[in-house]
Amino acid sequence: MPKEDALHEIEALIGARLSRSTAERAAHGRSETWFPETPPDAVAFPETTEEVAAIVTICAAHRLPVVAWGAGTSLEGHGLAVQGGVVLDMGRMDRVIALAPEDRLVRVGPGITREALNAELRATGLFFPVDPGANATLGGMAATRASGTTTVRYGSMRDNVAGLTVVLADGRVIRTGSGAAKSAAGYDLTALMLGSEGTLGIITELTLRLHGQPEAITAAVCAFDTLEAAVETVQATIQMGIPMARIEFVDAEIAGIFNRMNGTHLPEKPHLMIEFHGSEAGVAEDATRFGEVVAEMGGAGFEWARSTEERNRLWRMRHAAYSTCLAARPGSMGLVTDICVPISRLAEAVETARDKIAAAGLTGPILGHVGDGNFHAILLLERGNQDELARAKVLAHDLAAMALVMGGTITGEHGVGLGKRALMAEEHGPAWEVMGAIKAALDPFNILNPGKLVPQPEDAR
Ligand code: LAC
Ligand code: ZN
Repeated sequence: MPKEDALHEIEALIGARLSRSTAERAAHGRSETWFPETPPDAVAFPETTEEVAAIVTICAAHRLPVVAWGAGTSLEGHGLAVQGGVVLDMGRMDRVIALAPEDRLVRVGPGITREALNAELRATGLFFPVDPGANATLGGMAATRASGTTTVRYGSMRDNVAGLTVVLADGRVIRTGSGAAKSAAGYDLTALMLGSEGTLGIITELTLRLHGQPEAITAAVCAFDTLEAAVETVQATIQMGIPMARIEFVDAEIAGIFNRMNGTHLPEKPHLMIEFHGSEAGVAEDATRFGEVVAEMGGAGFEWARSTEERNRLWRMRHAAYSTCLAARPGSMGLVTDICVPISRLAEAVETARDKIAAAGLTGPILGHVGDGNFHAILLLERGNQDELARAKVLAHDLAAMALVMGGTITGEHGVGLGKRALMAEEHGPAWEVMGAIKAALDPFNILNPGKLVPQPEDAR
């Protein structure tokens, strides 16, 4: 049996760091949303690039699938080994390898989480800004081209990765990018790997761009009577060029859920949560100008979180919003939409989404990274209720189609995974086949995260 042979060879290489236990397979076979459990045949815990290359070489020889795994926080089932094989848990490759503060660069293993990285950077005056909310690993964030609450100011993984070390499907190790601020040396393979979701290579090292910790930070929440007023405030703030570090939206339903689950006393209205980074004088001026926009739009209940503790409490609550919403409907599972539209269409998109959720008879609070035109409906589905799941899928497809009509995208940050592959043809047309050609060129035996991202045989039917 080729599979048994491959697993024995990997075991000979890394010993007990290859696990076939039911518990490890189950832990690496479930996702944070509605996808059915798909335990892999085995889980490997490599410690070096060389080990990853050796494991991939063995798997290539035996045509066994290899799926990289970070923290397992993906919302689209990226890490699920749908065709079996070996899950590579990168958790042991979690170190800061080299720090170059004068170049504002850091080289890390893919298994380090963003919170662990920032804890290590604290004393340096630098930080890594990309913040998807979940305490994801940097390897996973690169593989999904993650973004989040600070993208409006600092950009996404696309803007903050200088280079990668990648193990290709035939076991070759390549380095992409450089330590320079820019380069015109050929195809941008770093960009190709970012967002490739483990289908083109296994990321074993990353060089990241760092930013200076801001001298001053202020954050605030404010309530609006209508969703339109909240979203128009975002648009006006962007047009005025007020440099926001974060601008997040939560709807009236989520404000109510926060009150019930966290003991806050927010008016049950749409809210914006905003943060400014800069000098003391700079953030004070930004706050004043933003306050004027809010007043003009009829915003109220404006509250500044001045202390670090207050601010941390605010963002902890925002980061936990997904799990808080799930907990607010006991026995539920989530299906989270992730459309992103040009900012001029944002108000219309959010309003239409709200109407469609109501028309579908579903519970779906809305929140989002509105400075990027990106928002999520957190569809709270009763576990095991096939009818609700079917309606949610139709609704998610509808919203994605709307985003495309508006000139947007089916996924702003969560990626394709299992949930959005069916929409890729609609977004990309023939360009999706080009992605398939790249995949076939780099992974001719289709062993890297097979069944994902690119066109599959069943799509031709
Ligand atoms: C968030 C996740 C769901 O924004 O992306 O909370
Ligand atoms: Zn999000």
